[in-house]
Amino acid sequence: MCGIVGYLGKENALEKIITGLETLEYRGYDSAGVAYVLNNQIKVIKREGRIQNLKEAIPWQDHPTIGIGHTRWATHGEPNEQNAHPHQYGKFTIVHNGIIENYQELKKILEENGYQMKSDTDTEVACALLDFLYQEEQNVLKTLEKARKLLKGSYAFGILCADELETLYAIRNSSPLIIATKGNEKFLASDVPAILEYTNEYYLLDDYDIAVLKKDSLTFYHDLKEITKEKQIFEGSVESSKKEGFPHFMLKEIYEQPKVVKDTIAFYFDGTKDSLYQKLPALDKYETIHIVACGSAYHTGLVARTLIEEIVGLPVTVEIASEYRYKKVFYDEKTLVIVISQSGETADTLASLRKANQDGIDTLAIVNVVGSSIAREAKKVLYIKAGCEIAVATTKAYSAQLALLSLLTLKLALIHHTIEEEEFLEIRNAIAALPEQIESLLDNPQYKKIAQQIYQREDIFYLGRKLDYSISMEGALKLKEISYINSVAYPAGELKHGTISLVEEGTPVIGIVTDSEMRDKTLSNLKETAARGSYIILICNEEEKEGNECLLIPKTHPILQSMLTIVPLQLLAYEIAKARGCDIDKPRNLAKSVTVE
Ligand code: F6R
Repeated sequence: MCGIVGYLGKENALEKIITGLETLEYRGYDSAGVAYVLNNQIKVIKREGRIQNLKEAIPWQDHPTIGIGHTRWATHGEPNEQNAHPHQYGKFTIVHNGIIENYQELKKILEENGYQMKSDTDTEVACALLDFLYQEEQNVLKTLEKARKLLKGSYAFGILCADELETLYAIRNSSPLIIATKGNEKFLASDVPAILEYTNEYYLLDDYDIAVLKKDSLTFYHDLKEITKEKQIFEGSVESSKKEGFPHFMLKEIYEQPKVVKDTIAFYFDGTKDSLYQKLPALDKYETIHIVACGSAYHTGLVARTLIEEIVGLPVTVEIASEYRYKKVFYDEKTLVIVISQSGETADTLASLRKANQDGIDTLAIVNVVGSSIAREAKKVLYIKAGCEIAVATTKAYSAQLALLSLLTLKLALIHHTIEEEEFLEIRNAIAALPEQIESLLDNPQYKKIAQQIYQREDIFYLGRKLDYSISMEGALKLKEISYINSVAYPAGELKHGTISLVEEGTPVIGIVTDSEMRDKTLSNLKETAARGSYIILICNEEEKEGNECLLIPKTHPILQSMLTIVPLQLLAYEIAKARGCDIDKPRNLAKSVTVE
């Protein structure tokens, strides 16, 4: 979603801000803008569309040393120049990530006091509110403190005040914001990658913390009292946010999967049962598990449900977070709520976590981004080792989540004595072979060839049963996200209850057949579509006669199979999107981290 970058130092703030915003382009946006101080005035430049449009509008002879910038993903009002950030009202100029839920109410009060908004945004209302409160307080800190008590919703603000042109202010609630330092240079940003080019040292703001950035000082306040914050060091590399010769981040990240799966597993499991007992949380007391997540993370939950129910025999409920947060939930002290999130900032997942926490239920988060809100608020957190994921369509984080969920399943199976020693050893050997097996799936000219056959179709179906169905959900999501083809996954037996009416001559149907017990059933469902003219692409462990095309993948223990099955589906989606000329790393309308509900 929206990105924020602010700079204060000796160098050209415009260059730093634009570089930072470009690093955050992957988050998805539809307009961009900057505000900076020049000749004792705050100058604002904004443009609809890509950062390139903004760059063309910036007078590069200006050399400000303080400023704020923003990429906006429209929520309130169209993505046009008027609605783009920064917004300015009276003495204040602000950039904002998040949503002010009570902005209509506040707007009414402000309008009664003579304020008139020029845009459709909640952000301009927040900006006007600051100006309104400041008239009485005449102090930015006190104004922010008062404002935060009036603002409902989520926000991360970067703020300039006309009365303090050498100071940057920042405040957050439920939307990420970091402050980074490099000598006397200071940055504020919504995400760590924005500052990695310059420094890896940063501070994480907590809800309602206020940061005051000045030339010679950096001060943090909470409830108007000065506080100290612990410096964080980002341990990944700047390279992780570069393409390194790959045409797209998505492809690079698909190719990183052997490593991230290996790293994630190696962090928690050294081949011994002891390591699982020591590195993964105690799970003995739980009689039921709720897995809550959104999008692809939800799909990993579907895989985990099948694994845990089949291998361990524990009942698992998998819920989409935007539903779970509002529905009646049945849980107790023997329930473990597992939330899964790459970004650790997804608004609905965070709200579901808070709900479970408030109800006193044990919570465990599986997260990629270290120090993110979900990671900090869960009672226990397990990090996947995927590194920085840039492409909007998740691939390596999805696989790393599967790897961690497989280990949790293995530990549960040991606790519940549902696997014998022999099977444990079999899984251990299979884990050792897994990275190489994933690697073996990366380079295959068949993906391009199949893409050429089907890229012009407007409907593609994915069929599978049980585990194969869970993976097909992710395959279909990957394809629709980046190629805009209407791709839908169905449990193989379900298509004939309605949707098969859409199958016509040449409709591609991707059938996933890795579950030997389900093989015959799924194949006969595929034949039903073939009888209506479908073009079948099979993903299977051994040659089958039924398909027009067959992508063979290695066999492994079912607990690991999904990490192999997903690779051809990701690469097919990639090649199809490429053949259609789509902007693969920045698909339309999508954002990397969904911080609003
Ligand atoms: C799909 C995708 C999204 C995310 C979803 C949850 O490629 O990336 O469906 O999986 O928005 O995001 P996180 O995992 O950050 O909570």
